[in-house]
Amino acid sequence: MKEIKVCSNFKVYDTIDELNDQTKNLFKEAISIRKSAYSAYSNFSVGASVLLENGEILSGSNQENSSYPSGLCAERTVLFYANSKYPDTKVKEIVVVAGSNEKINEIPVAPCGACRQVISEYETKQKSNIGLYFMGEKGKIVYTDSINNLLPFKFDKTFL
Ligand code: THU
Repeated sequence: MKEIKVCSNFKVYDTIDELNDQTKNLFKEAISIRKSAYSAYSNFSVGASVLLENGEILSGSNQENSSYPSGLCAERTVLFYANSKYPDTKVKEIVVVAGSNEKINEIPVAPCGACRQVISEYETKQKSNIGLYFMGEKGKIVYTDSINNLLPFKFDKTFL
């Protein structure tokens, strides 16, 4: 038996003002699209924006359904959209802003397991990392340069 340690690296920013202009813009878009969330069942709204290598920003929000599993998270909404619109264009960054509709959430909200898997799939597909920023409705921002930091021991096509 041997023990292994898995190390993950994150940066924590106090405010959006500390970010570069392009990433600030991504946050602006994610905050704005969050208002379009269809979150009638959870009352939890999420906005996600991606920056593509062609400089374009695309955004999406969570879309719920009376048949709960038929809904989709904001991260997957925007990543599936981006990869449908531009199948050969790399995603450089993804920004996630999330919180309850009933109370102010100041705790950064990390993507769920299914979204981590999807982000990981696109990192593998495009052969480059996707920088990820996440925050609550306001407050601190967490950054990591690859989903590997949130999804060690990932499942990918090499197992198939
Ligand atoms: N949600 C997201 O959009 N992204 C996540 O990473 C976590 C959860 C959505 C799904 C559902 O509409 C609501 O938040 C509550 O789970």
